[in-house]
Amino acid sequence: MAQRGVHPFERRDSGDFRKTTARTHKSMVLHKLTLLPQNVDILLPSGSPLTDIEYESPERLIPFGCRSGACGACIVEVLEGLEVLGDAGDEELDFLQDLGRADGKHRLACQCRLLGPATVRVD
Ligand code: FES
Repeated sequence: MAQRGVHPFERRDSGDFRKTTARTHKSMVLHKLTLLPQNVDILLPSGSPLTDIEYESPERLIPFGCRSGACGACIVEVLEGLEVLGDAGDEELDFLQDLGRADGKHRLACQCRLLGPATVRVD
């Protein structure tokens, strides 16, 4: 017999999701991250670095190394939602300049904080 109760994922009017954890019964806001060219949607807790998708998928959908903004392995092109990824700091902007990607469309996935739905293309 199916267990009754609240489904762990509850879609909100904003397009975000809310998940209630079984262990703490607290809820967290989740945002959808769409990855291209894989065309995969992943839900991440609000405020997560994009590289945290490694906890949600067995595949390494975004390559990463240092996770501290120093290696450049995690560079992504932001197609939608640049405004919901947090502001890039001076060090990230300097590094993007060094990489020739200071075009306002690229970010280091490990330095972004997902605060709403976004779509990125993995280089
Ligand atoms: S993982 Fe090294 S810069 Fe993001």
